[in-house]
Amino acid sequence: MLLLLSLTIVLAGSTAATATAAAAFRHQLPLNGGLTRREISINTTDYPALTIDIPIDHYNSSETRTYKNQYWVNARYYRRGGPVFFFNSGEQNAHPLVPYFLYEAAGPSSVMTMARRFNGLAIVFEHRFYGDLHEGSFPFAMNATTGMAEGGYEAYKHLTTEQALEDPVYFAHHFEPPGLRRHWPLLNPKHTPWVWLGGSYPGIRGAMMRVRNPETFYATWASSAPTEAAVDMWTYYAQAERSMMRNCSADYTHVTNYVDSILTNRTATEVGDLKYALYKAVLSGPRGQTPSYVNRTEAEGLSKASVAGYLLLPLSFY
Ligand SMILES: *[C@@H]1O[C@H](CO)[C@@H](O)[C@H](O)[C@H]1NC(C)=O
Ligand SMILES: *[C@@H]1O[C@H](CO)[C@@H](O)[C@H](O)[C@H]1NC(C)=O
Ligand SMILES: *[C@@H]1O[C@H](CO)[C@@H](O)[C@H](O)[C@H]1NC(C)=O
Ligand SMILES: *[C@@H]1O[C@H](CO)[C@@H](O)[C@H](O)[C@H]1NC(C)=O
Ligand SMILES: *[C@@H]1O[C@H](CO)[C@@H](O)[C@H](O)[C@H]1NC(C)=O
Ligand SMILES: *[C@@H]1O[C@H](CO)[C@@H](O)[C@H](O)[C@H]1NC(C)=O
Repeated sequence: MLLLLSLTIVLAGSTAATATAAAAFRHQLPLNGGLTRREISINTTDYPALTIDIPIDHYNSSETRTYKNQYWVNARYYRRGGPVFFFNSGEQNAHPLVPYFLYEAAGPSSVMTMARRFNGLAIVFEHRFYGDLHEGSFPFAMNATTGMAEGGYEAYKHLTTEQALEDPVYFAHHFEPPGLRRHWPLLNPKHTPWVWLGGSYPGIRGAMMRVRNPETFYATWASSAPTEAAVDMWTYYAQAERSMMRNCSADYTHVTNYVDSILTNRTATEVGDLKYALYKAVLSGPRGQTPSYVNRTEAEGLSKASVAGYLLLPLSFY
């Protein structure tokens, strides 16, 4: 996920990066280790999305097409007159986050803590061009095989910083969630403070938003918002490595060097062996049961970057 993040930030707007990110995203695999019983029983179909029609292009009046952008609302603590807490999930599928952020499946979340304290309305809003391939916030239909928009590279001219910043502004001014009809006029940012919450890339977005649209977003909590873009941000992981016990970090470093040296310097067969081994290890989970659909052909089709990315999974970002 973090690899994806740096790609997206550094190369936003570049079609090649988007394709790489889409392909890598398709291969992003969850581990089952360390989950609570409640988390294991989560079924995201219990958290259906709401959608809003948003212009595909905010800056071309001849372009009248719209797309459906997903969002989720928790009004449990809302009292009339309370603020809106708008959590932006950034460059990932937002749906799996909803039980955690809006329903606190693994403990208190920032957005619900704020909602509880200030009797606010909590929202999770998905970023354009992200989400589940079949139901996500895609301006164009997505090809499930390639992970790319069916319009090809041309489609990605609508994935720009400016278009994506205008989406939440449009959303805030057209926010009409079902079930809260009597609050619609009041919930407009003209009358209710909208507070942005976001970490990392969404943190940068929130900071930009305060400068760009102070009339819409009254405040931003920009958590871990990067201040500088870097292509090879290896120092990020140095923090994780530093916090491990020495015997553990030494092993981690050895494994990383080993994988790097095979992927960089060895024959296609050796690279294939390693891809297959890592792919199997990841899909098998902590108990080592390899699902029957795992095969070598599929593993060899993974990019070196995706396979190397598996080494980040034990660092578990949630
Ligand atoms: C999730 O719930 C849906 C609808 O009730 C059901 O069809 C689906 O099988 C469930 N998925 C899992 C993994 O339990
Ligand atoms: C504006 O939208 C129209 C209609 O889709 C399209 O033909 C035109 O190329 C667009 N202009 C720009 C600058 O994208
Ligand atoms: C998706 O992409 C694959 C590979 O390029 C192609 O064969 C297939 O026809 C595409 N599917 C659709 C629905 O366009
Ligand atoms: C690593 O060191 C800690 C603290 O000395 C010890 O408890 C642990 O068993 C060691 N782990 C391994 C794998 O050697
Ligand atoms: C690949 O081999 C070259 C030449 O032996 C060496 O300098 C380099 O460090 C190796 N790369 C990795 C990632 O091991
Ligand atoms: C490997 O898995 C892929 C995807 O699950 C499948 O399409 C393909 O037929 C399998 N190949 C072999 C040789 O089993």
